[in-house]
Amino acid sequence: MRIKLASKAGFCYGVKRAIDLALSTAKEKAGNIYTLGPLIHNPQVVQNLAENGICEINDIGEVKEGTVIIRSHGVGPEIIQAAREKGLKVLDATCPFVARAQKYAHEMAAQGIPVYILGDPGHPEVQGILGWTEGKGSVIDNPSEITRVEHPKVGVVAQTTQPLSNFQALLEALQNQGVEVDARNTICHATGERQRAAMELAREVDVMVVVGGKNSANTKKLAKICQETGTPTYHVESARELRKEWFLGHEIVGLTAGASTPDAIIEEVKKRMNEMDQMTNGEEGMSEAMEVKSPQAGELVKGIVVQ
Ligand code: F3S
Repeated sequence: MRIKLASKAGFCYGVKRAIDLALSTAKEKAGNIYTLGPLIHNPQVVQNLAENGICEINDIGEVKEGTVIIRSHGVGPEIIQAAREKGLKVLDATCPFVARAQKYAHEMAAQGIPVYILGDPGHPEVQGILGWTEGKGSVIDNPSEITRVEHPKVGVVAQTTQPLSNFQALLEALQNQGVEVDARNTICHATGERQRAAMELAREVDVMVVVGGKNSANTKKLAKICQETGTPTYHVESARELRKEWFLGHEIVGLTAGASTPDAIIEEVKKRMNEMDQMTNGEEGMSEAMEVKSPQAGELVKGIVVQ
């Protein structure tokens, strides 16, 4: 069995930067360190941060002193202000690409125009950008949702992980209404590159394995893209979840990982897949007695196996 890794996979610039900032702050031993929400959507990394004394909080109100790290998704200005007013140190690890979307949204709001944010309304990045719009922002989940716009001019920014086609469709829908649009393409290339690489690889292999947190939106999206090519796709968080049955009778297996998946976990998955392959080859000759088991009931959901 040959394992092919997607040409772009794993940590993106913003995630790596946030982790490096957090760990270097922990090394300075500068008192208690907290992250507002999980620093990234990967349980193993969060666990490692906790072992380095970096704890997760959900609200500024939970702590009285120390350093609060703002994760790569960013937050609205009211949260930063609340932390400073409490006397907490703020370490801003907002990804520069997200910060750029926040800045544009803030500038548009300062012009007094409505600001549309194309993105998932429940995602922390989108909520953070919304916080910079001084009450003039609204979130558009899907371009088809756009209703009659009353203002002659509007601003548009996008969640960094949005597909370009969605952004273009929203601009078109607004322009069709004769509205002047100040559009800033704030989509991050890292996401698009990973998605394209995953799709191309999924098309040329027999099976795809996607590694990353089950709560990671970008990993789930990668799994969905791979599955849509028709190639059986398995989303795992770690090597522990791999099943050798998935690979039986297959020659080429593709491997990709979300932007919040560390290289060490990708390597571990690859190593385990190689071990499974060797075990399977060692069992040749017993094949008549060996039945290929299907994934356990409930594992296969629309072609994506979620462990
Ligand atoms: Fe930043 Fe793009 Fe990663 S916005 S956090 S570099 S996916």
